[in-house]
Amino acid sequence: MNLAIDELQKMFLDERQIESSRLIMGLDTQLIDDGTYFVIESDGKLAGCGGWSRRETMYGGDQTPGRSPALLDPARDAARIRAMYTHPEHTRKGVGRLIIELCEAAARAEGFTRMELVATLSGEPLYRACGFEPYESLVDNRGGAGVPLWRMRKNL
Ligand SMILES: CC(C)(COP(=O)(O)OP(=O)(O)OC[C@H]1O[C@@H](n2cnc3c(N)ncnc32)[C@H](O)[C@@H]1OP(=O)(O)O)[C@@H](O)C(=O)NCCC(=O)NCCS
Repeated sequence: MNLAIDELQKMFLDERQIESSRLIMGLDTQLIDDGTYFVIESDGKLAGCGGWSRRETMYGGDQTPGRSPALLDPARDAARIRAMYTHPEHTRKGVGRLIIELCEAAARAEGFTRMELVATLSGEPLYRACGFEPYESLVDNRGGAGVPLWRMRKNL
């Protein structure tokens, strides 16, 4: 996760924004406790990770303020895609796409018909390739320098 945050965002963010983004990205142990987080291995090594959520929080790690563990209603709410990170040595091999497919299947099995996420600029091309559409831009400046983000959504 740290390598992905530090290396793969260099194309999109300056040093201060990357530093700032550490507050709003990273490990969310709730996803692991919920059993909605996937790890992809290659030759026994971590190639990527990511997951989905049936809880309200849109993005962020354990250290991010303002999170809500409230459960979503599949009949009314969109499930979330969360915390997607590919090891820099394993990008563009389909790791991210594979995780999104696993997440969509799992959310669909629980009755969700829509998904939403908040994308970094680094994540946006992956989500777009997977059928998500941006519908609102925002800037998160809680970590200092403003980090541009996109709200994206998809019907399952
Ligand atoms: C976003 C991220 C998880 C993508 O992971 P990935 O495993 O490389 O993605 P995939 O190989 O599955 O890509 C699938 C498709 O998405 C698109 N895509 C992914 N990364 C892209 C990039 N950097 N530039 C352009 N298109 C990209 C392409 O269409 C790609 O298909 P192709 O390689 O056949 O052209 C990875 O870049 C990352 O960890 N970034 C830093 C952390 C981050 O910002 N995570 C998102 C949080 S919202």
